[in-house]
Amino acid sequence: MRYKIDYEKRIKELLEQENKQYTYYIETMGCALNENDSMKYAGILEKMGFTKANEIEKANVVLFNTCCIRENAEDKLFGRVGYLKTRKKQNKDMYIAIVGCMTEQGHILDKIRKSYSYVDVVLGTKSMQFFAEKLYLAIKNHKKTQEVQDNEHEIVEDVPIRYEEGYKASISIIYGCNNFCSYCIVPYVRGRERSRLPEDILNDVKTVASKGYKEITLLGQNVNSYGNDFKDNKYTFVDLLTEIEKVEGIEVIRFISPHPKDFTDALIDKIASSDKIAKQIHLPLQSGSTRILESMNRKYTKEHFLTLVEKMKERIPNVSFSTDIIVGFPGETEEDFLDTMDVVEKVKFSLVYMFCYSIRKGTRAERMENQIEESVKVERLQRLKALFEKLVLEDNEKKIGTVHKILVEGLSKNNDKMYTGRTIDNKIVVFEAEEKDIGTVKNVEIVENNKWYLTGKIV
Ligand code: 5AD
Ligand code: SF4
Repeated sequence: MRYKIDYEKRIKELLEQENKQYTYYIETMGCALNENDSMKYAGILEKMGFTKANEIEKANVVLFNTCCIRENAEDKLFGRVGYLKTRKKQNKDMYIAIVGCMTEQGHILDKIRKSYSYVDVVLGTKSMQFFAEKLYLAIKNHKKTQEVQDNEHEIVEDVPIRYEEGYKASISIIYGCNNFCSYCIVPYVRGRERSRLPEDILNDVKTVASKGYKEITLLGQNVNSYGNDFKDNKYTFVDLLTEIEKVEGIEVIRFISPHPKDFTDALIDKIASSDKIAKQIHLPLQSGSTRILESMNRKYTKEHFLTLVEKMKERIPNVSFSTDIIVGFPGETEEDFLDTMDVVEKVKFSLVYMFCYSIRKGTRAERMENQIEESVKVERLQRLKALFEKLVLEDNEKKIGTVHKILVEGLSKNNDKMYTGRTIDNKIVVFEAEEKDIGTVKNVEIVENNKWYLTGKIV
């Protein structure tokens, strides 16, 4: 369905009549997909005439975009909502909304209804199109919405999006997930895979290109299942990449995340032959043990993963990999863990996102008997971290003296004479430059290894 700017207008009129100027604040918890949803909520709120507040304390509408993929997020959310309670009671022009993955979990919804009844709008992951209407009802009639609807088969297009400033924009291409990895809550809270139509995606790409964005990241839980749900089943992720490459102005194309089981030769060839697709690939490993991978329902083996990486290293010059790893999955023995360490050592990932396994309600792994003790998980995480740091330092050392083409992205956070950019394998490089260099590509020689970033000089 196409998004209609309807209640946004009504809210705008309502506020104009009452001579009110409202601000909003969005707190995003979670992944790049949530960041992208938050840009849409920001776009919708700005159509209502709201402006962005820089602090949560000053906003009339506070929106929490939640994530439930791992632990701790719940406590954090309720801590933040609780923090706003007093101000909410004293200020009749203040509204609180909770959206995103967590609201799809029954026990969270119950908790909000019972203990946080002052929250004005609660919406699930498939109901963004109703946000303005629900907020309108809250503002006009003090009516609360604390329910989650299932609009599983709807894809909403033409949602106004407020892109972040800079050179990079992200675009969702597929929603939901069909994989049911046994540890993961996503298929339960985001529903089945739904691909957006190529023409809608291309329109978004052209829009961001015309606004001056140079780099786009295509988003989905599993981007390489893109198109599998189309009836004729012929249009693939590779076809989409081929069309996106043609859009003038876009210089770098990235995507997160592909699933190793669906990484086709056609996709490898596409990356190899493209001068726009980044040669830095996020390839979630999760575990290096074939036994654990099977129990995780990942549908590949350690050997398959390593062969895939080797194949890509052969065919794609300068390719580098980042990954996600879970330690302490139920039943993980020391031997299984050493398999994970072995894959890390062999692949030499440029970045590893590491997590201790956390139980998610309703998943298959929740019911597995041999859960691992927290102390063992933490100890393994530390060993993995130490190995990764050692590999990073070794790789950095090799880079000293080499020259890289680097897009000057902006001023460094800690020093107002230094600017930052990234190498092709996504390492941060800090170097002296000038404001006018931002947005241009420079040859930068690496001169110093600082573990998490490199220092360079323009040559
Ligand atoms: N426990 C720990 N990590 C998890 N992830 C997903 N579910 C869990 C869980 N239950 C990690 C995976 C995934 C990343 C986004 O989060 O590594 O790739
Ligand atoms: Fe979760 Fe697996 Fe789907 Fe990724 S592919 S979202 S880990 S179920």
